Amino acid sequence: MMLKIGLDKNKAVKLSHELNLLLSDYQLFYQNLRGFHWNLKGRDFFELHLKFEELYNDAQIKIDEIAERILTLEAIPLHRFEDYIKTSEIKAANNVSDGKRGIEITLENFQKILILERKIMEVASDAGDEGTLTLISDYISQTEKTVWMLSSFLG
Ligand SMILES: [Fe+2]
Repeated sequence: MMLKIGLDKNKAVKLSHELNLLLSDYQLFYQNLRGFHWNLKGRDFFELHLKFEELYNDAQIKIDEIAERILTLEAIPLHRFEDYIKTSEIKAANNVSDGKRGIEITLENFQKILILERKIMEVASDAGDEGTLTLISDYISQTEKTVWMLSSFLG
């Protein structure tokens, strides 16, 4: 069996499952960033309030792209909060008002996302799915650079 785009159906199902894990991670990641943006206190407020906003806006774009890639692979993207919470490797942060702590949690979350994205690269490669490889490959290089910058901020 083949998808309309010519990929093997079984391989695409496996890949969509992995992409749904990434989608779930990104939803929790996104909501964590909103919490950091809102609850922030202290001398870094103006700088980090903006930085967290920049990060969650980027996450929001990726969430939509990942979900639409799953649809392109003829599967259904998870869309209920209860499913995201059940599926995500990333845990919901609560009442974080310290900016540095928010950055540390963001770095831990990015590490989880990067490890999963590299696994998705293997599964997409096995499926011969150039579209997903390009998408995720761009995410990896962008995220790795962001990790370097956030780490530099922490000193
Ligand atoms: Fe805001």
